Amino acid sequence: MIFVKSEQEIALMREPNAIVRDCLSFVGERIGAGMTTKEVDRLVYDFIKASGAEPSCLGYCGYPASACVSVNEVVVHGIPDDRVIREGDIVSVDLCAYKNGYHGDGARTFRIGEVSAEKDRLVRVTEECFFKGIEGLRAGTPLYDIGYRVQRHAEENGFSVIRAYTGHGIGREMHEDPSVPNVGRRGTGVRLQAGTVLCIEPMIAAGHWRVRVLPDGWTAVTLDGKPAAHYENTVVVREDGVEILTL
Ligand code: MF3
Ligand code: CO
Repeated sequence: MIFVKSEQEIALMREPNAIVRDCLSFVGERIGAGMTTKEVDRLVYDFIKASGAEPSCLGYCGYPASACVSVNEVVVHGIPDDRVIREGDIVSVDLCAYKNGYHGDGARTFRIGEVSAEKDRLVRVTEECFFKGIEGLRAGTPLYDIGYRVQRHAEENGFSVIRAYTGHGIGREMHEDPSVPNVGRRGTGVRLQAGTVLCIEPMIAAGHWRVRVLPDGWTAVTLDGKPAAHYENTVVVREDGVEILTL
């Protein structure tokens, strides 16, 4: 069941989402070669706590950290550990903050120093996929138009769309209905109502979209070992377009 938000609820959601936005910028200014993914998680934990919010991911279904830090072939849900970030890596940082009774959620993929031309293009196209996904999105748009647009842009650029994970509704819970797949058929799915709040999060692979989850139960890696990127914002569907809460 999709919970459409009132203006009052949307006003309450602005703060956790602004914290996510600011935390992602904060991390982007500091992340670099030589840091461990655990050190990135520490930055996120401290920033969210100092903002008077709670890191939603910490303890969620037993998840042991405040951020997901996913390097190169790790698609999503990379558990921060002692892995050292190196020049040439791409690192996705995904985090959620809880404040005012609501969650905010966003992700960015950072380039560490000079990266290969392929990784550079992958990161750029993944961001573009988000903006393609919201193109024309407004009250009345069929849900799967989002995935249709994301998929078309990714595949036109020779990349593939991860199928095993999707975007989602968000509000009092971090994951609410509906699921927002990044592939789909145009003109299908529920027609979105104004006040629906969605996390739209393309996960795009340089190679094949098949993934496997490591024995830790979380870390999702591409089966072919090729890199993947992730870009996510929380958006409100409006009568005449979308309002992005995490930019
Ligand atoms: N931020 C992620 C999402 O987009 C949630 C990560 S799952 C967690 O859905 F367990 F790490 F929290
Ligand atoms: Co999300």
